[in-house]
Amino acid sequence: MKTLVVYYSITGRNEQLAKGVRDAFTRRGHTAEIHGLKTVVPLSALTGVLMSVLRRPSKLAALPPVEDAEILVIVGPVWASSLCPAVRAFLNALDNLEGKSIVNLVVGYGIYEQLMRKINHTLKVRKADKVVSRALRLKDMDSHDKIDDLANEVAEEVLP
Ligand SMILES: Cc1cc2nc3c(=O)[nH]c(=O)nc-3n(C[C@H](O)[C@H](O)[C@H](O)COP(=O)(O)O)c2cc1C
Repeated sequence: MKTLVVYYSITGRNEQLAKGVRDAFTRRGHTAEIHGLKTVVPLSALTGVLMSVLRRPSKLAALPPVEDAEILVIVGPVWASSLCPAVRAFLNALDNLEGKSIVNLVVGYGIYEQLMRKINHTLKVRKADKVVSRALRLKDMDSHDKIDDLANEVAEEVLP
């Protein structure tokens, strides 16, 4: 199935996880593309926190080609206990998700189940067929083996 992995990453941890998930799909014979979200203006930590607290999306340089994907994987960091502005902008731009299955991976220093459920709700409102989600602790993503295990787990769960 056509899979699109969308992530936002500044220091590379979410990118590493996104690549691990992409690889789990390609290993199973699926076409998997990856897209890193980029903001038009790079955000300082202070601006990033402020925008996250105020629930402001940032302007994205480009929107990933979601329409073609049958499975959409979203990998994003927690900022200020909330959605980071880039992922917020991406979620805001999502249209009807009918016919698509989604994997939602939320990464923070702690486990942010409530934020994960909030994103799941947004995805369900947009009529996603199936949502597989995990709230992940950054330090648990420190090894390739752990990333592989998680990636295999979510791929098995979302694939029909
Ligand atoms: C501006 C900013 C605010 C953050 N706020 C939180 C937070 O409130 N809670 C948390 O668990 N992690 C927080 N983090 C940590 C990020 O979740 C962590 O840096 C991220 O998952 C690592 O992603 P990356 O290496 O892909 O950039 C914050 C990080 C940044 C840069």
